[in-house]
Amino acid sequence: MPIIPISEVSFEGKKALVRCDFNVPLDNRRITDTSRIDASLDTVRHILRQGGAAVLCSHLGRPKERTAELSLKPVAEYLSNALGKKVALAPDCIGEFTGRMVSDLALGEALLLENLRFHHEEEANNRDFSHELARGKQVYINDAFGTAHRAHASTVGVTQFLRERAAGFLMLRELQILQAVTQNPAHPYILILGGAKVSDKIGVIKTMLTRVNLMLIGGAMAYTFMKARGLAVGKSRIEEDKVDLARELFAIAAQRHVPLVLPVDHIVAATPAPEASIQSVTTIPADEMGLDIGPHTITEFIQHLSTARTIVWNGPLGFFEIPVFAQGTLRVGEAVANLSGVTSLIGGGDTSAAFAGQQWANRFTHISTGGGATLDYLEGIELPGVKALAIG
Ligand code: 3PG
Repeated sequence: MPIIPISEVSFEGKKALVRCDFNVPLDNRRITDTSRIDASLDTVRHILRQGGAAVLCSHLGRPKERTAELSLKPVAEYLSNALGKKVALAPDCIGEFTGRMVSDLALGEALLLENLRFHHEEEANNRDFSHELARGKQVYINDAFGTAHRAHASTVGVTQFLRERAAGFLMLRELQILQAVTQNPAHPYILILGGAKVSDKIGVIKTMLTRVNLMLIGGAMAYTFMKARGLAVGKSRIEEDKVDLARELFAIAAQRHVPLVLPVDHIVAATPAPEASIQSVTTIPADEMGLDIGPHTITEFIQHLSTARTIVWNGPLGFFEIPVFAQGTLRVGEAVANLSGVTSLIGGGDTSAAFAGQQWANRFTHISTGGGATLDYLEGIELPGVKALAIG
């Protein structure tokens, strides 16, 4: 079913409810990575320039109740600076007072509603709450790709009450690249998987084994696969209850002739601490844990990747938050960024955080703002937030 792009909507004289994903990392109410906000600025500016007013809404974190720590206030402040005009924060996302702020909002101006998840009705996709969210607006724009895998009031329910609806520029960009790597990828196609847990990625591994030519596995999840192979893992963080599953995935990969490439060496330490004494080993000693891929693995991964025409990457290859364990992720990242003639898609969350501030990070084809949404899409799961946008 077709999705209308934002460029086809006339905003003149209209108020648009714009669902963004401003679920940004905070340190003591200071935003530590603004990329999700920056990625939606084109959509907001477009609505204002076209003579509309933008009523922005988002969730932040997973609050059980209203709490000052998860107020969108820092986001309103950041938006005011980025757009060069005051973006007021409504004290709530629904209710009489907020309703008055929406009706007083002038065309060409933007308003941010307070955290949607301060109401449990948001995640319950409650009909009355959806109706309230829609009140006073004439158009619905969904630019929250990072939340498109959630069937919530602001991503799904609200579309029953705002029939004129479209995808924002960020949503369109994210879907376009995912479509390209799913429908008609150039081969060789390599998937890089990292991060802590195999359990988060079972579905995507099974689906991608039917699509890719090779999988490179790093991060803590590699140790669960190594254990399944009978290799020494020392004190590494593994999922004991997923070792059989890892064996099963090896068997499926072998049937499909897709090599699952594991690290051949490791950076190990007794604890994951910045001051820990580290060494590079091919066999993990019993009293040490693997915390990054080693230099031979980096070389081997880069060699494989130099042959690829499509690369999808989800999850860091080591404990990148501590600089001594970030080398694998950064060196392989830089090599991928510098490849030419390749489509490279970096899955959101931790992987993009690992590349933040690197001057080569803008050379990937795309760094996604969605982690979970990207994994679901790659697995072949229909995203409810995208489905609800479709007209027909
Ligand atoms: C994310 O950060 O993955 C999205 O904003 C969705 O957040 P959630 O996992 O809390 O629904």
